[in-house]
Amino acid sequence: MDISPYVGGRAAIDGHQQVIRLASNESALGPSPRAIAAYGAESDSLHRYPDGGATDLRDALGELHKLDSTRIVCGAGSDELLQLLTKSYAGPGDEVLYSQHGFLVYALAALAAGATPVSAPETNCHSDVDALLAHVSDKTRIVFLANPNNPTGSYISRAELRRLWGALPENILLVIDAAYAEFVMADDYEAGVELVEAGRNVVMTRTFSKIYGLASLRLGWCYGSEEVIDVINRVRGPFNNTGPALAAGLAAIKDQDHIDTARRHNDKWLRRLNQELPKIGIEVLPSVCNFLLLRFAEDGAHSSKAADAFLTGRGILARNVDNYHLPDCLRVSIGLDHEMDALLSALKEFVA
Ligand SMILES: Cc1ncc(COP(=O)(O)O)c(C=O)c1O
Repeated sequence: MDISPYVGGRAAIDGHQQVIRLASNESALGPSPRAIAAYGAESDSLHRYPDGGATDLRDALGELHKLDSTRIVCGAGSDELLQLLTKSYAGPGDEVLYSQHGFLVYALAALAAGATPVSAPETNCHSDVDALLAHVSDKTRIVFLANPNNPTGSYISRAELRRLWGALPENILLVIDAAYAEFVMADDYEAGVELVEAGRNVVMTRTFSKIYGLASLRLGWCYGSEEVIDVINRVRGPFNNTGPALAAGLAAIKDQDHIDTARRHNDKWLRRLNQELPKIGIEVLPSVCNFLLLRFAEDGAHSSKAADAFLTGRGILARNVDNYHLPDCLRVSIGLDHEMDALLSALKEFVA
């Protein structure tokens, strides 16, 4: 009963037929047309159980990312894998560590497993390796690091990630949650594959919900050592991915042109909003993801609450991030061109 249920982003506004949904970090462009076709083609075999081993999808992921596909497990979103990892490696009396503004699911998964969530302070909304290490105790079993992180949009470099792993005792599992990896253009970023190859105590989680635009189908995957993958395969449900999700995921990864287009679209709007919003006095936290954290005044007419209400009145849904201890901020996803134009003009009007 200590768990406050996870509340997703709003999807509707009373009195508005059409809303601009920028509250859940969904894909702006949606999935590849090939994924939609593959999903549709599955309608003939809905009476069949899916391949519980997700073999074709794992093989395709292995080929795309140059990974050993026997060390991949697919899940119903990466959320399921985060939950399974926590349930497998932490329990009553154990601690699960993450950073101050880290993705909410880590604390919820820890509580659900009976473990104690522990958070380490961040520096300027960036995960702080020294602070994380300072909060490691002999009870710590898992360290979760969203890299890049939601909702801050920040990331730590390959060198910092390696420093974190290098200083962690070997009996602590480092889970690198790279849900937004495909959006990151920075040269010093590494999604986690190198560390998984280097250590038995590292797992990288990924998702089809973000750049692949398949959030509704619930499809994610993780890559880890033989031992960890063996455990996850024992505790997961035998058919934890649906046939339509597996088929759509497979078609989606074979259309990397679509992913490149999505990445370019995202980059264009990250740059544009980074240029335009500070000009009208709205602070933008640097982001490498498909969303931005905007900082407003602490209170009064230009507060985040006032901005949220104003945007809602214009049919635009942003995300309140109070539960991430960021009460003066709003998070907005990168949407389509016309949605971003509408966001910019609404924010200009709000500030004026
Ligand atoms: C950092 C992070 N990790 C994991 C997820 C879970 O994604 P999914 O379960 O859709 O794969 C999200 C979703 O917003 C996220 O922001």
